[in-house]
Amino acid sequence: MHSSTIFQFCFLLQLFATALSASSSQRCHPDDQKALLQIKKDLNNPTALSSWQTTTDCCRHWKGIQCDRAKTHRVNFLTLDHIEDPLPIPASIATLPYLNTIQLGPANFTGPIPRSLLSLTNLNYLQVTSTLLSGTIPEFLSQITTLTDLDLSFNHLSGEIPTSLSRLSHLESLNLGFNKLSGPIPDIFNSFPNFTFLWLSSNQLSGKIPKSMGNINAVYLNLDHNKLEGDASMLFGSKKNTSTLNLSHNKLAFDLGKVEFSNDLGSLDLSHNEIYGNIPEQLATVGDMISFTLDLSYNNLCGKIPTGGALANIGASAYAHNKCLCGSPLPSCTRRRSF
Ligand SMILES: *[C@@H]1O[C@H](CO)[C@@H](O)[C@H](O)[C@H]1NC(C)=O
Ligand SMILES: *[C@@H]1O[C@H](CO)[C@@H](O)[C@H](O)[C@H]1NC(C)=O
Ligand SMILES: *[C@@H]1O[C@H](CO)[C@@H](O)[C@H](O)[C@H]1NC(C)=O
Ligand SMILES: *[C@@H]1O[C@H](CO)[C@@H](O)[C@H](O)[C@H]1NC(C)=O
Repeated sequence: MHSSTIFQFCFLLQLFATALSASSSQRCHPDDQKALLQIKKDLNNPTALSSWQTTTDCCRHWKGIQCDRAKTHRVNFLTLDHIEDPLPIPASIATLPYLNTIQLGPANFTGPIPRSLLSLTNLNYLQVTSTLLSGTIPEFLSQITTLTDLDLSFNHLSGEIPTSLSRLSHLESLNLGFNKLSGPIPDIFNSFPNFTFLWLSSNQLSGKIPKSMGNINAVYLNLDHNKLEGDASMLFGSKKNTSTLNLSHNKLAFDLGKVEFSNDLGSLDLSHNEIYGNIPEQLATVGDMISFTLDLSYNNLCGKIPTGGALANIGASAYAHNKCLCGSPLPSCTRRRSF
């Protein structure tokens, strides 16, 4: 009786020790190691991947690699940066079936984004940024319906933004900034209920802002440095959670006096447009006065500038080159008529 209890105790101890060592060792799955070595080979064994050695565990010691610690213990995170040779993105990336996050660049990848990524059924986050990638945004990306974040910024992409991106219903963040994209912004924004981050800055996008963009509650919305025209008032609203809105350097024309601002607003840049009307008093009540940044210069605004609150520390340059703005920090409104 007594010895069997000791036996049971030892057995449990053994079991516990085995479980402990299995969880702490984090051994690279052999299939993942094989796939990663193929990627390294496809990239001509670059110095950036010199830590990828079979003598060490890919989950713990290979640069840019992470494994899922909780469940699968498979590679779920891949970063490839500072690849100096101009080479295509390795199609072998798709042989890591548990990938959740792919971050490529800065690197001299010449593209294209491999179609093989379609086989990755756990992919949430795809970033290809600061590469030599050119051509159009591939249509097949819209079939990776698990995507929540798509970042293709700082490349040489051209052509139009594909309407098919509307199929990415889980999308929360889209960054296509600093490319050469042209044509209108497609009317796809009713498709993304959880959208919070949109960055289309510094492209050659033209035409009107689509109505559906007014239905998203984005925290960051940057459309600056394009050729957008017409109304942008649908992007505003006191019920939105916008903290950064940058529409500068476009050809937008609408009545600013009719909009309401998000209470969370921390940065508003509408400079270099054709916006008219007055500045609503409510703008002084948003955000906090310490960190609020504002630029309304180079527009057609008119009337008395509201004072106090968030606007207390805003200098004259934020209001420069408008039609007839007046009052502190610009010259007083009564003097205006004597010019
Ligand atoms: C890309 O190639 C250029 C020229 O060889 C090199 O100077 C640069 O460092 C490379 N970029 C990266 C991110 O490796
Ligand atoms: C939106 O977010 C909520 C909460 O995180 C989540 O339950 C829901 O599935 C998301 N909807 C979509 C379409 O991704
Ligand atoms: C969004 O803004 C509303 C009203 O201003 C506020 O009640 C809500 O808590 C905000 N939501 C988030 C996620 O910050
Ligand atoms: C708006 O974007 C431009 C270009 O990206 C940048 O220079 C400017 O500082 C931004 N405005 C604000 C208020 O952040």
